[in-house]
Amino acid sequence: MNPEVTLRVNGRRYELQVRPDRLLLDVLRDELRLTGARRGCETGYCGACTVLLDGQAVHACCLLAVRAGGREIQTIEGLASNGKLHPLQRAFIEEGAVQCGYCTPGMILSAKALLDENPAPGPEEIRQGISGNLCRCTGYVKIIRAIQTVAQAKGGGRP
Ligand code: FES
Ligand code: FES
Repeated sequence: MNPEVTLRVNGRRYELQVRPDRLLLDVLRDELRLTGARRGCETGYCGACTVLLDGQAVHACCLLAVRAGGREIQTIEGLASNGKLHPLQRAFIEEGAVQCGYCTPGMILSAKALLDENPAPGPEEIRQGISGNLCRCTGYVKIIRAIQTVAQAKGGGRP
């Protein structure tokens, strides 16, 4: 019999029987159908699977689902509210920071974790904040600009 785990995802509570060796990424995607967390390298390298765990960006491919029990998980699906995109989502679109989009959910969640902790990051801090997320398409310039736009709107984004 697999252990019962309570996962709190995007403000909803799920009681699930989860095999102890199941990864959080697999449970989110295959059981909860939250496919915004992408399956990339599955080795903790690319960041495509990034979700927030108690507000911290983590690689869901490297975390056992049972270890996330009782903690607050946020995925990209939980970022918009009342039908309105989160400012980071809007900024990524407006700045052209999305190309194939594979990295985008994880990138935005890492940016959110950064801005929640430091509303006024400089470019180097932004680079550091998204250093766990690889993008093969954009060259990062537009991504950094999008994050800066939101930081500036919050009163930060100093050069
Ligand atoms: S899929 Fe998790 S870090 Fe690449
Ligand atoms: S937009 Fe394609 S990997 Fe980042």
